[in-house]
Amino acid sequence: MREGKIGVAILGLGTVGQGVVEILSKNRAMICNRSGIDLELKKVLVRNLNKKRDIELLPEIYAQDYNEILQDKNINIVVELMGGLNPAKEYIEAALKAKKAVVTANKAVLANYAPELFALAREENVPLYYEASVGGGIPLIGPLNESLVGNNIKSVMGIINGTTNYILTKMSKEGRSFQDVLAEAKALGYAEADPSADIDGLDAAHKLTVLIALAFDTYIGLADIDTEGIRNIDILDISFAKNFGYAIKLLAIGKKTDSGIEAGVHPTLIPLNHPLAAVNDVYNAVFVNSMEVGELMFFGRGAGRYPTASAVVGDIVAAGRVISGSGKSLPRKFTTGKTKPISETSGSFYIRLMVADRPGVLGEIAAILGQNGVSVASVIQEGRDQDRVPLVFVTHEVNQGNLARSLQTIASLSCVKEVANVIRVERGY
Ligand SMILES: NC(=O)c1ccc[n+]([C@@H]2O[C@H](COP(=O)([O-])OP(=O)(O)OC[C@H]3O[C@@H](n4cnc5c(N)ncnc54)[C@H](OP(=O)(O)O)[C@@H]3O)[C@@H](O)[C@H]2O)c1
Repeated sequence: MREGKIGVAILGLGTVGQGVVEILSKNRAMICNRSGIDLELKKVLVRNLNKKRDIELLPEIYAQDYNEILQDKNINIVVELMGGLNPAKEYIEAALKAKKAVVTANKAVLANYAPELFALAREENVPLYYEASVGGGIPLIGPLNESLVGNNIKSVMGIINGTTNYILTKMSKEGRSFQDVLAEAKALGYAEADPSADIDGLDAAHKLTVLIALAFDTYIGLADIDTEGIRNIDILDISFAKNFGYAIKLLAIGKKTDSGIEAGVHPTLIPLNHPLAAVNDVYNAVFVNSMEVGELMFFGRGAGRYPTASAVVGDIVAAGRVISGSGKSLPRKFTTGKTKPISETSGSFYIRLMVADRPGVLGEIAAILGQNGVSVASVIQEGRDQDRVPLVFVTHEVNQGNLARSLQTIASLSCVKEVANVIRVERGY
C-alpha cells in the first residue's frame, strides 16, 4: 500500500475547475480522515495566467505547459476539466500513457472516443473515472459501475439536460412560449449564448452514450442515437398533454430488447404520476429498471460549479484509493456523539386541538402561543353548535421547547377539551 500524499493536477480552471480546487482545499482534512487519502493539489493548467477568476492560487501552482504535469512524478491524478474534444482527448491519452489516473467531466470526449480511451486505460492499467459526465452532481456512474454491477439492466431513462428541463417546466407552469422562456434562461445563465447543443438534444445524446455503455456493455455512437430537441414544442402541446394526464419531458432513453438496443433522445409524454414527471426546473433524474433490483431513480442537480465538482472530487478520491492500494474497503472512522436535545431543535408543526365552541377561544390560545414565541402561519376553525370543535394551526418554524411549554398551558385551559394531535410539517427542502 502506497503511503503519503497523492498529487493532483487540474486541466482547466473554469466553472468546475474552480469548484474542485475549492473543495479540495477546504475539505482536504475531512477527505483524508474519511478515506485515508491525502490529496495535494500540485498544478493547474491554464491558458491565460492573467484571467480574472474567483479563486487565487500560489504562483507555483499554475502551469501553462502540459509537459510540466506529464513529467512530474509526484502527480498521480490528472483531472481534465477543459471540455471540448481537442486537445482534451490527446491530454487524457498522454496522461494515461504516463501511468497517471484520469478523472474527467467531459461527456463530449467520452461520447466520441470512449472505446479507444477505455481500451487505453485498461492497457495501461490506470483508472479513468467520469462520474460528473452524466447528471453532474448525481452519483450515477459509480452506482451503475459498482453497486449495480450484478444487475441485468433492461432500460435507462432520464432527464439529463437541465436547460431543456428548465424551459419545459417554465412553459408548463407559466403557459409561456418556448422563445420567451429560452430568452429568460439565457439571461439567467441557464442556457448558453448558443443553446443549440442543449435544446436540439445533442448534450443529452452525449450523456446517453455513456449511460448505455455502462448499462448494456455496448458503446453506441452518436450517429446511432435518434436525437430530437424541444424547439417544436408548443404550449398547446403541453396543455393538451396535461389534459390527458401527461407531462412533456425531454427524455433520453436506452432499452435493451430481444432484437437489439433502442436509443433515442426525444420530447416524450410521460404520465403525471410517474416520478420523472415531477422532476422540474434544472434538476436531472435517471430512472433505471433492472431484472434484479427493479426500479431505481437517481435525482439531483445535473450541473453547476459545486454539484459537478462534488462528483469530480468523489472520482479523485476513488482514483486515489486505487493508487494507494487501499481499495474501497477501508472502514470509515467514526467518533461517538450525542444528538441535540429535542427541546433545542426547531420545526414547523400542525396542531389539532378539540375546543369548546364559544367566542374568545381562539384569542386565548393565540395569546399563549404568542407569549411562548410560537408564531402561527395558518389557522382553520371549523364546525359550530357542537360540544367539541376542531381548531387547527400550522406554525412557522418554532423552537420545540417553546411549543411544548405552550401546549402544556393550552391543555390546562377549560375551553380546551383535548390536544388531539401534533404532527411535524416537513417542507421538503
Ligand atoms: N459546468 C457544469 O455545470 C458542468 C456539468 C457537468 C459537466 N461539465 C463538464 O465539465 C467540463 C468543464 O466545464 P466548465 O463548465 O467548467 O467549462 P468552462 O467554465 O468553460 O471552463 C473550461 C476551462 O478550461 C480552460 N481551457 C480550455 N482549453 C484549455 C487548454 N487547452 N489549456 C488550458 N486550459 C484550457 C478554459 O480556459 P479559458 O478560460 O482560457 O477559455 C476554461 O477556463 C466540460 O467538459 C463540461 O462538459 C460541466
